[in-house]
Amino acid sequence: MTELDRKQDRAPVPKEWTYAPAPESRDVVKLQDRYGLFIGGEWLETKESYETISPSSEEVLATVSQGSPEDVDTAVTAARAAYSNGWSSLPGSERAKYLFRIARILQERSREFAVLESLNGGKPIKESRDVDLPLAAAHFFYYAGWADKLEYAFPNRKPTPVGVAGQIIPWNFPLLMLAWKLAPALACGNTVVLKPAETTPLTALLFCDVLRQAELPPGVVNIVTGDGRTGAALVEHPGVDKIAFTGSTEVGKAIQRQLAGTGKKLTLELGGKAANIVFDDCALDQAVEGIVNGIYFNQGHVCCAGSRLFAQESIYEPLVEKLKKRLETLRVGDPLDKNTDVGAINSKMQLDRIKELVAAGEEEGAEIYQPPCVLPEKGYWFAPTVFTNVAQSYRIAQEEIFGPVLSVLTFRTPEEAVEKANNTPYGLSAGVWTEKGSRILWMAQQLRAGVVWANTFNRFDPTSPFGGYKESGFGREGGLHGLEPYLRFDE
Ligand code: NAI
Ligand code: MG
Repeated sequence: MTELDRKQDRAPVPKEWTYAPAPESRDVVKLQDRYGLFIGGEWLETKESYETISPSSEEVLATVSQGSPEDVDTAVTAARAAYSNGWSSLPGSERAKYLFRIARILQERSREFAVLESLNGGKPIKESRDVDLPLAAAHFFYYAGWADKLEYAFPNRKPTPVGVAGQIIPWNFPLLMLAWKLAPALACGNTVVLKPAETTPLTALLFCDVLRQAELPPGVVNIVTGDGRTGAALVEHPGVDKIAFTGSTEVGKAIQRQLAGTGKKLTLELGGKAANIVFDDCALDQAVEGIVNGIYFNQGHVCCAGSRLFAQESIYEPLVEKLKKRLETLRVGDPLDKNTDVGAINSKMQLDRIKELVAAGEEEGAEIYQPPCVLPEKGYWFAPTVFTNVAQSYRIAQEEIFGPVLSVLTFRTPEEAVEKANNTPYGLSAGVWTEKGSRILWMAQQLRAGVVWANTFNRFDPTSPFGGYKESGFGREGGLHGLEPYLRFDE
């Protein structure tokens, strides 16, 4: 037990905050050595395969299939058959039953999924347990509720399903992005071919067991693993009626070019470089928590991460001092430890990208701060980082780093804050910290961002639409708006 510091009549506090390790047990997850593709309710073997690892230890977890264009074709054929053989004409109230079942099973098995998500992706267990899993289940519950109310959601517009949806998702929220994509698609009566990201296929593969438990008709959901080539084959397939993509702006642009003139529907949820704007009248300690949550949550692998902090000049010094102090208390390490705040970087490729941009920041003249922390030897790690003395022209102020790296800039007036915040090709999210309600509303109107949080950050809810402006993409996921991309209207 650490020694306690007693000061007069105040409650004693430990001199040092050392925690005993509190690892979550891995025993709840039973992995197969090999996974095929989940097509038409069956497991299909492929010619090519690859190994998926745990980024925190580089341990091989399983061998996973690399879907070929022929496999994608088989999956699209299965999805089309399921669409025509009953799913699309099922009453909404019947489709809802399956979605409610999936939601409940996810809740029942949430510990198992949370452990696997942290194992395969590197995120802290407290996040997969308290954020990813509850939200994934909530999305299925929410869209289950819409399935039999589409006529009311879009009165006099005669909504009908689109057909077969091809869905491509990234590695930062593997199961949650699966839920964001599947729930509205199924609620609207579509069938799906979904491709998980190459580094994080395991929760999607385990999810196939949930589909079996829920007795979803075969072929309604097909999971095809593989890298970008598999994704490209899905985008190109003439039997797909709609593409939903979440990932890099670069690939999003390529997909949009590819689909031009094909008549396929498209939604893109791409990168971001969000401004988190702190005014001098805000609750400063609360803002510091919001800044930390905004950029170090999920190792900063968040498209809407608050990666550009704009501090009003009058509070710049105390804010940065408080922030640096708070960083010292962040616990970086084993994703399965319940005390961990910052886990492993998702892949070697992503770590290299973060390192390259951080080196650019130092070279261009920004001042770097990292709290003292011992990083594990194996696996992919990056210490929480703050850059001060950042000019707007620096790469670290312009490009998406997608890592635990914050760039601090300053402003004097609200007008200047708006101008600087909007000075980016992206427009996914923003944060405003101030006591004044009128200022919040004015800022929200001026900021060119799909989501504006006030006195909070990184809050998600299935009822609230999410999506971007400019190069952050188009189309909305979540809420009533999230149904539209999966429907046709005979107007
Ligand atoms: P990526 O865009 O290459 O990968 C996302 C998904 O797209 C994966 O499932 C991938 O297999 C698939 N994909 C790749 N190439 C494709 C193609 N030509 N056609 C169809 N699908 C394709 O992203 P990556 O390379 O993993 O990360 C690069 C950067 O992108 C990150 O550093 C980050 O800045 C950004 N990113 C943004 C995300 C977001 O949530 N907005 C998610 C992931 C990455
Ligand atoms: Mg890529």
